[in-house]
Amino acid sequence: MQVPDTMFHDGAAYERMMGRWSQRVGSRFLDWLGAAPGLDWLDAGCGNGAFTEIIAARAAPARLTGIDPSSGQIAFARRRPGARGASFEVGDAQALPFADGSFDASVMALVIAFIPDPARAVAELARVTKAGGMVATYMWDMRGGAPLAPLHRALLALGHPAPLPPSTEASSLDALGALWRGAGVTEVTVETFPLTVTFDSFDDFWQSNVRPVGPLAAVLGHLSGAERDKLREHLKDSLPSDHEGRIAYGALANAVKGRRP
Ligand SMILES: C[S@@+](CC[C@H](N)C(=O)[O-])C[C@H]1O[C@@H](n2cnc3c(N)ncnc32)[C@H](O)[C@@H]1O
Repeated sequence: MQVPDTMFHDGAAYERMMGRWSQRVGSRFLDWLGAAPGLDWLDAGCGNGAFTEIIAARAAPARLTGIDPSSGQIAFARRRPGARGASFEVGDAQALPFADGSFDASVMALVIAFIPDPARAVAELARVTKAGGMVATYMWDMRGGAPLAPLHRALLALGHPAPLPPSTEASSLDALGALWRGAGVTEVTVETFPLTVTFDSFDDFWQSNVRPVGPLAAVLGHLSGAERDKLREHLKDSLPSDHEGRIAYGALANAVKGRRP
């Protein structure tokens, strides 16, 4: 089986970078879905199992399957204590290895902007969902509302490239609604979740953000020592901190849900 290279190889690094954000938004999304207990769930693009763990803890699933193209992320997910009851496999959301109508609830958490052909992935998500089942996703609003937006802005201000995921346009509320309707999903509803995360110190922020994960990994990996120091100083100067040195800022996630007819 051919799986795409996703820029997400290291589950532990992803956890350090995105874990605190992913947990917060994932819980709110799951509450919004309002799913009944005892469902058969698919978590497509499950990565290191950050959202899979939330489904396991809060949705009382009958069965829980995670799939992601990154074997490094899947290895971390398989070791995650909170996702012990789930089964994980390596695979591509654009070509799901499941029969039609296999799941009651099919979700993708923070994935759609990373997928080269989002419409194909949504069609696949709908295909593997039972009639009447739930099809849903959420994604950071990539027009400035993502957790890494301060790092992006700093890189650009210092003349470095700051590449975004390949399908950033799919992250807007309108685009998500259109993708869902285009796949024939009914009862389509969209929602935006604003949230704020606090870092204990600038160092906590820095250590979390400069991980070798995602589209910025290559840029960060190629910075010289002096360029890295400059980036650090720029961020330190531009991010407001409170009297105890904590740094807090917000992000926006857009979500969509609907039912397979
Ligand atoms: C930002 S992470 C999200 C991980 C996890 N779902 C979460 O909520 O934290 C994006 C994930 O999308 C996965 N991904 C990228 N392309 C994919 C594809 N074609 N099919 C499925 N997953 C994909 C990456 O491997 C990565 O694990």
